[in-house]
Amino acid sequence: MEQLWLTLMLALSVILGLSSGDSNADRHRTIHVKAGQKIQKAIDTASAGSEIVVHAGTYREQLLIKKDGISLSGKEGAVLAPPDSFVRNVCSGVAGPGTQAGICVAGSGIKMDPFVTEHRKVVFVQRAVEGVSVSGFQVEGFSGANILVLGADHTRIAGNTLIDGPIYGLLSSGSRFTTMGENTISSSDPAAPGIIASCMDNFEGAYGAGNDIRFYVIGLCIQTNGAVLRDNDVSYTCRAAYADPYVEGIRLTSNHFGPSYDACKAFASYGVTLAGTINALVEGNTIEQTRNNGPAAGVWVTDDPCTEPSLACLANPGATAVSKGNKVVGNKLFDNDLDLWNNSTGSGNVFKKNKCSTSIPKGLCRR
Ligand SMILES: *[C@@H]1O[C@H](CO)[C@@H](O)[C@H](O)[C@H]1NC(C)=O
Ligand SMILES: *[C@@H]1O[C@H](CO)[C@@H](O)[C@H](O)[C@H]1NC(C)=O
Repeated sequence: MEQLWLTLMLALSVILGLSSGDSNADRHRTIHVKAGQKIQKAIDTASAGSEIVVHAGTYREQLLIKKDGISLSGKEGAVLAPPDSFVRNVCSGVAGPGTQAGICVAGSGIKMDPFVTEHRKVVFVQRAVEGVSVSGFQVEGFSGANILVLGADHTRIAGNTLIDGPIYGLLSSGSRFTTMGENTISSSDPAAPGIIASCMDNFEGAYGAGNDIRFYVIGLCIQTNGAVLRDNDVSYTCRAAYADPYVEGIRLTSNHFGPSYDACKAFASYGVTLAGTINALVEGNTIEQTRNNGPAAGVWVTDDPCTEPSLACLANPGATAVSKGNKVVGNKLFDNDLDLWNNSTGSGNVFKKNKCSTSIPKGLCRR
């Protein structure tokens, strides 16, 4: 599986490399930014397809990337931190009134619903920005998302360290084919975890592999049909992976989830939550130490009565979202309060060939 993933990534980079074309030398320009200079200035003067290499230093800026094919690459020690004052851009307020993103990768002509909860939902994108890559940065302390991908296609967010995004570490919304790989997303103060480490609410295409997430209420928030999340390591969260109501056909494979986070008591703790989710595959994951002295389970398949406002429930007000057709197979579960919990009335949910360490609930693990 891992090999397949690598092959896909390689194929993608070859395709992207070829499509940027050798005919225009300018497209391969590399711009260097050094401590004391402004990264945004380099982005503004770069032509589409340029690589911008940012050297070690702390840059107090918010960044906006709207040009196709920009590759923004941080060298070891390149840190992006909030400026003293912000200007309004298209990412401002997306994660709630007054919030600001650190790096905003955005298309044009983006129409969003007003903010109700979580983030402003993208309803229309006139022109998506294509093929932007952000890698190697440390981004810390932005009030909205440390990195926000909005109305962008084929964006690659890789090898970044995102610290103290109190609402979102990374958010991809209204986009297509976002890849996030090998990022580290965490809150520095375990007593004050951020809310959501990573969330992809795309029109289609959400891939996440090899990310390391800790000290968040929710690790992986899954709101894109067909999302693929594999080989991620999520610990010290209340919900390691949370799939929203009505989300279809996601694949969660070979991840490691746990231990859960002590401070979750009020929220309960779950490794994988499928809440009104349809046709998910949860396979080959290792899920351990999900504990809460109360409701806590390695895998929780449940219906969502939608009594609390959430973006997914707002789309279908008043209805209970029922989990259906989900397959939980071949996972290893140990030292969870409950390893598996079937809390759904839905049809077609299958628990098979899981290895458990708890004897309750009876039956689910023996299939
Ligand atoms: C789900 O859990 C809740 C809370 O424990 C319980 O009231 C409900 O009956 C459960 N539903 C199913 C289908 O297991
Ligand atoms: C889960 O619980 C529901 C409601 O009790 C039941 O109808 C269904 O058969 C159960 N599913 C599995 C896989 O045990």
